[in-house]
Amino acid sequence: MCRVVRSVLAALVVLLVLGMTAWGGELPPPQTEGGMGLFEAFRKRASAPGGDFPTGKLEPEELSTILWAASGLNRGEKGWTVPMARGLAPYCKVYVAEDAGVFLYEWRSHDLKEISKENIRARVGAQSFVKAAPCILIIVAGGEGLTEFEEPDRTEFANVAAGAITQDVYLAAAALGVGTRYIHSMKVEEIRNVLGLTDGDRPICLMMLGK
Ligand SMILES: Cc1cc2nc3c(=O)[nH]c(=O)nc-3n(C[C@H](O)[C@H](O)[C@H](O)COP(=O)(O)O)c2cc1C
Repeated sequence: MCRVVRSVLAALVVLLVLGMTAWGGELPPPQTEGGMGLFEAFRKRASAPGGDFPTGKLEPEELSTILWAASGLNRGEKGWTVPMARGLAPYCKVYVAEDAGVFLYEWRSHDLKEISKENIRARVGAQSFVKAAPCILIIVAGGEGLTEFEEPDRTEFANVAAGAITQDVYLAAAALGVGTRYIHSMKVEEIRNVLGLTDGDRPICLMMLGK
């Protein structure tokens, strides 16, 4: 085999390995300083058009920063970027669906836990354009702590948390120049099955992400 072909094959193997590990394990540290100012991010916050959604993949650093903004620790071991009733740990979970599979964002260790190797991007949105997003966040009520509340608080508190999470995603995405869109129209049963959700879990919304 000539040297050029060997070099190309070696480069392909490196790219494949990088591509496989970038999303499935540890996230790089999130950006927590610098960048666009908050007020400029407020000015830029907007939904990217559903029908012409940007299809470029996010860098691992960008996904890491958006997940941290969504519900990461920001003050030691008990303080998060989003407010939770009674100061409980986040009782909404953030799943990530992309080509390599489905992952759960673990805020304690700031990394991704693999849930499935399936690409479910085409199966979660009720609108056909949703699958165009290379990365889709699935926000689910049902993290630890939620069972402490009776209805209607249980539902209302989870919805408030999802609102805070999704607005943080909008602002972080604006600051990073990443496109995003809140999606309520979901295939709830499909999501339940593929994520292996329990009866107490409730999918609330999707956030499309792409550049
Ligand atoms: C509760 C809620 C539900 C939404 N559901 C959908 C949806 O199912 N499909 C969709 O394309 N956009 C959905 N959106 C996005 C809105 O259409 C979008 O935020 C709105 O047009 C305002 O645009 P802006 O976010 O750029 O200000 C939803 C937004 C919210 C807040």
